[in-house]
Amino acid sequence: MTALSTLTARPVSALKGAIRAPGDKSMSHRSLIFGGMAEGVTDIEGLLEGDDILATARAVEAFGATVERLGEGRWRVTGQARGMGGFRSPGAVIDCGNAGTGVRLLMGAAAGYDLTATFDGDASLRKRPMKRVTGPLADMGARFDWNGTEDRLPLTLHGGGLKGIEYVQTVASAQIKSAILLAGLNAAGDTVVVEPEKSRDHTERMLRAFGATVDVTEEGEGWRIRLKGGQTLTGTFVAVPGDPSSAAFPLAAALIVPGSEVTVEGVMLNPQRTGLFDTWIEMGADLTITNRRVSGGEDVGDITARYSALKGVVVPEDRAASMIDEYPILSATAAYAEGRTVMRGVGEMRVKESDRIALMVAGLTACGVAVEEEAEGFIVTGGPVRGGATVATAHDHRIAMSHLILGLAAEQPVSVLDPEMIATSFPGFVAMMNGLGGSIG
Ligand code: S3P
Repeated sequence: MTALSTLTARPVSALKGAIRAPGDKSMSHRSLIFGGMAEGVTDIEGLLEGDDILATARAVEAFGATVERLGEGRWRVTGQARGMGGFRSPGAVIDCGNAGTGVRLLMGAAAGYDLTATFDGDASLRKRPMKRVTGPLADMGARFDWNGTEDRLPLTLHGGGLKGIEYVQTVASAQIKSAILLAGLNAAGDTVVVEPEKSRDHTERMLRAFGATVDVTEEGEGWRIRLKGGQTLTGTFVAVPGDPSSAAFPLAAALIVPGSEVTVEGVMLNPQRTGLFDTWIEMGADLTITNRRVSGGEDVGDITARYSALKGVVVPEDRAASMIDEYPILSATAAYAEGRTVMRGVGEMRVKESDRIALMVAGLTACGVAVEEEAEGFIVTGGPVRGGATVATAHDHRIAMSHLILGLAAEQPVSVLDPEMIATSFPGFVAMMNGLGGSIG
């Protein structure tokens, strides 16, 4: 019998110090994929070297680009763009591992080329819906065979011969938007994506950095994005800033462990990604942002968090898209806040790497926190956190890290099962937290 794999966080007295956040996951995937589609050389600095991204690097290579690691976080992608023929049929199944962003953006990119490719992923990715992307890509002319269950991986894509569409998003999803826009680069005519609610706009920004023209106009609360087909991307230099979704974990620990002061340097502050920081400030968090600058086409700053007496808030539902990956760690900090923190309009959490509402409700409850579950949300009532539980993570990196942070301030240790997936987005998490004074092992 093999031993169960666990990590345990023990209560500590204060966290102190300054660290750099790992590179942003969204921008890391995009820099490799766009580099693979582009003519010429793309040099990337600050790439996240997590498992999700390494799977995307292998995929881009399988589609015909040359991908080299030059040093820590420094990668070079040389695209094979020949007119409309940048990607070619890969020789083997494209295994995207745990990465929803990887597989959905790669399908969009590949759909524009005359090729056949089979996509697959790990057990978690095989449970996630794919029709949200294959549907609009099929409307553009791509064909898909479901190799097992409809709407799920593995699937085979037959690309090429696309025409532009106008697509109105029904969920605020940057993955769907990005897949359509990447396909639109090699489609006949214009491709338009209308977003009633804004989602992260790294694709639009990075397409411009690669020389494409993308028209974005405000429409209601959202955006109308128009892209002309037949545009060639040109390789460029991409500096990937720190990931706000990863920075959230050490900052959260500082907010809940008395006496703490932690700075995370070089955090990306794209307004479509900073909903958690706005929410924490409304909860009374002592957060300061210094050294604001622009790097890689994105606003960046250093964020300092100090221990704070937090109070519960109602998170506005229209903020969900700007912090959708951050509700697990928000709910861990809400466990230490006075009163109720209401998180609604977050049904999308149920189709992430795991059903994140169900897992946070189960984990927090096991640690003695009062939580109410709803179909599309959950409510946490703060108070002393007992801890003293071993929590299931369903191999979800953010569920594991959220409970470990919770355990640093609880009365008794908190253990998580299957913590290996932390390496998908935050390699070095344990060492970094312990370097600040944490006790995770
Ligand atoms: C991402 C978009 C979000 C987010 C994911 C990364 C991206 O997913 O949850 O971690 O890089 O475009 P959705 O677009 O499905 O909301």
